[in-house]
Amino acid sequence: MNGLRATFGLSMAGFVLIAAVTALSPKTPSEALGETLDGAALVKERCTQCHDLMRVDRRAGQDRAWWERTVERMEGKRTDLLSDAERNAVLDHLAGM
Ligand code: HEC
Repeated sequence: MNGLRATFGLSMAGFVLIAAVTALSPKTPSEALGETLDGAALVKERCTQCHDLMRVDRRAGQDRAWWERTVERMEGKRTDLLSDAERNAVLDHLAGM
């Protein structure tokens, strides 16, 4: 009986440990920076100031390098469009579309 209880206790401890590690481990580069930025929300907010999302969605499937060049061009049209962390989150989202 005690043995059973100890086994149960141990497996519960293991479960809690795994859950804690999973919750703490970063999922995207921007989260690794300690940010929880939503790339999709940022695109919706910042990239619709001059044109609609059609212009962005039409380019779904382009690679990260293409998006880096394009976002850089957009930043040339408006200074302070994105912080470094925001740009990262936006690029993660765009390159994964
Ligand atoms: C200051 C205004 C402005 C903002 C803000 C802006 N854009 Fe643009 N965007 C433009 C203009 C003007 C064009 C058309 C001329 C060009 O392509 O440079 C354009 C064109 C585009 C295109 C089409 C390019 C192509 O070759 O198909 C994409 C994609 C795009 N923008 C993405 C974005 C994204 C992503 C953001 C947010 C990070 C953004 N834009 C924010 C002004 C803006």
